[in-house]
Amino acid sequence: MNVQAEQEQVLTSSAVAGGAAPFVATGACEDAVGRAVRPLDMGKLREEYQQQGAFLYLSDFLPADATQQLIDAANALLPEVNRNYLPGHKAGGSVSRHTIDRLAPYIAELYRSPQLIAWLEKITGDRLQLSPQDDPHAYALYYYMRAGDHIGWHYDTSYYDGRRYTVLIGVIDDSSCKLDYELHTKDPGQADVPGSVQYPPGALIVFDGDKLRHRVTPSLEGEMRVSLTLEYVTNPNMRPWRRFISNMKDAIAYFGFRQVFRKALGVKA
Ligand SMILES: [Fe+2]
Repeated sequence: MNVQAEQEQVLTSSAVAGGAAPFVATGACEDAVGRAVRPLDMGKLREEYQQQGAFLYLSDFLPADATQQLIDAANALLPEVNRNYLPGHKAGGSVSRHTIDRLAPYIAELYRSPQLIAWLEKITGDRLQLSPQDDPHAYALYYYMRAGDHIGWHYDTSYYDGRRYTVLIGVIDDSSCKLDYELHTKDPGQADVPGSVQYPPGALIVFDGDKLRHRVTPSLEGEMRVSLTLEYVTNPNMRPWRRFISNMKDAIAYFGFRQVFRKALGVKA
């Protein structure tokens, strides 16, 4: 299914899903993305992305109205946050794409924005596809709201047959958390280059998940940070054993078994 066809299908299914949907998808999202990408110098950004080994940070990307939509959604979804804890590696909260589809269609619309996808394709130089319907990471909110919430050093490994790109968008940041990263770790011809960024609401980061080593440093008492992640792939096929590993990782480390194995468990919404 192409991007356009799935966009129409998902927006339709969101509209008929029923329940309390505080946000209604409109053309406002696409308009905001247009205002975000139009003034950007594509040649310069593409070069920066390549020089940094498939990594780009824009401190000011989304217009304020779009950022506010994300902030409202993040606050409205607080009761839906799934807490997770992996000793020594990760602690935090997550809201998966399945919950977002039900309660925050603006985010689903942003993920499918044709202008955003076209812009990302120019930056990455790849033909991008949406993650499959059953991938809870396709778009998800990550919450750091208790002292010590963090994630240790990792790659966003692609379990798909092709590449997996991560887009991070700042939503709420009343915290001291930093995204630490190391560029070029998979390139034997280049020295590793460390970096660190505390990205504010509306900022955007895009990187190739298999190339960027990164972590989020622990939050302190009373802090609150929410980040939106969007995942795009170059080939949505996944071999069964990789699917199993990926599902187990997602169930334990992110979204819980009910969200990840919703089809097998007969979860309707
Ligand atoms: Fe990550």
